[in-house]
Amino acid sequence: MVRASSLENAEHVLELGPGTGAFTGEILSSLRHGASFSALEIDPELARTMSKKFPRAKVIAGCATKLGEHLETEKVPPPDAILSGLPWAVFDENLQNHILSQIQAVLRDGGVFSTFAYYGPHRLKAGQAFRRKLENCFSRVERSSVVLRNFPPAFIYTCRH
Ligand SMILES: C[S@@+](CC[C@H](N)C(=O)[O-])C[C@H]1O[C@@H](n2cnc3c(N)ncnc32)[C@H](O)[C@@H]1O
Repeated sequence: MVRASSLENAEHVLELGPGTGAFTGEILSSLRHGASFSALEIDPELARTMSKKFPRAKVIAGCATKLGEHLETEKVPPPDAILSGLPWAVFDENLQNHILSQIQAVLRDGGVFSTFAYYGPHRLKAGQAFRRKLENCFSRVERSSVVLRNFPPAFIYTCRH
């Protein structure tokens, strides 16, 4: 996820749904000097734990459907990279559309949005519909090779604004 997001030049990086922080540590160690990092997590307990675990991160407790509002309230500048750990497969179409439109609205021009999908289910109707949504929202969508060491195997969509 981190490699696919080319964070070397990013000034502000945002993670959606950091959970327990498996991506977060990797993201923080890949940031260039002076870059800032925020994360938005819906579960307040996880958000609190993440703030303690990663004091360098600004962890906001809130829902990605209100991403724009949260960034404004917290005075977080528009990110040039957004990495998502959100469970898109359990979201209904409305929720997917809503969150994707928030991501489009806050991501800087030329910015990158990365998210993962499980290999196999991506061939099903819902998986294909999600890919089409990404293609409608972003000017370029690329797929990584399959990461077999992940369980279940997964791959990454890297989307450019
Ligand atoms: C698959 S887990 C994240 C995995 C993460 N990479 C980790 O290491 O734990 C998905 C996370 O997204 C969060 N989440 C789900 N819906 C959300 C939403 N609408 N807004 C923000 N976070 C959300 C969940 O609470 C959960 O922590």
